[in-house]
Amino acid sequence: MKNKTVIVTGAGSGIGRAVALKFARGAANVVVADVHEAEGKRTVQQVVEQGGNACFVMADTSRPADCANTVQQALERFGALHCAVNNAGIGGAGVKTADYPLERWEREIAVNLSGVFYGMRYQSQPCWRGAAGPSSTSPVCWA
Ligand SMILES: NC(=O)c1ccc[n+]([C@@H]2O[C@H](COP(=O)([O-])OP(=O)(O)OC[C@H]3O[C@@H](n4cnc5c(N)ncnc54)[C@H](O)[C@@H]3O)[C@@H](O)[C@H]2O)c1
Repeated sequence: MKNKTVIVTGAGSGIGRAVALKFARGAANVVVADVHEAEGKRTVQQVVEQGGNACFVMADTSRPADCANTVQQALERFGALHCAVNNAGIGGAGVKTADYPLERWEREIAVNLSGVFYGMRYQSQPCWRGAAGPSSTSPVCWA
C-alpha cells in the first residue's frame, strides 16, 4: 500500500483506528473519516506520531453528501483513491424486539446498512480509476 490512498470510516476508535494505523505503517495515505471529530483527529495524530500520512474528514456515513465529500477530500488531498474500509457502525440496543425503540432501529439501518452502501456508491469509481495507474494494486471497497 505504499503511497496508495485508503479511506477508513469509523477510524476514530476500535477496529477502524487499528486498521488506519496498520495501513499507515504500510506507508499508505489514510483518510480518517468519523462522526466524532476529537477521536478522529486523535487517530490522525497517532498516525503522524508513527511517521505516517493522514488527514481527518468529519463525516456521518448515514449522509450521502458526507460520503461524497470524504471521497472528494481524499482526491483533493492525495490525488487518487485506491481502497476503502467501510467500518463505521453502531451496535444494537440489546433489548427484545417488542421493546426496540423505532428511532434506534432506523438509525442502525441508516448507519450500518445505508452508510456502507453510500460509501461504496461514491468510492467505487475513484477506486477503479486509481487501479488504472501503472503500478497500482486492485481496488478494494468492502464493509
Ligand atoms: N467489536 C466487535 O466485536 C464487533 C463485532 C461485530 C461487528 N462490529 C462492527 O465493526 C465496526 C467497528 O466496531 P468497533 O468495535 O471498532 O466499534 P467502535 O464503536 O469502537 O467504533 C466505531 C467508530 O465508528 C464511528 N461512527 C459511528 N457512527 C458513525 C457514523 N454514522 N459515521 C461515521 N462514523 C461513525 C464512531 O465514532 C467510532 O469511532 C462497527 O461497524 C461494528 O458494528 C464490531
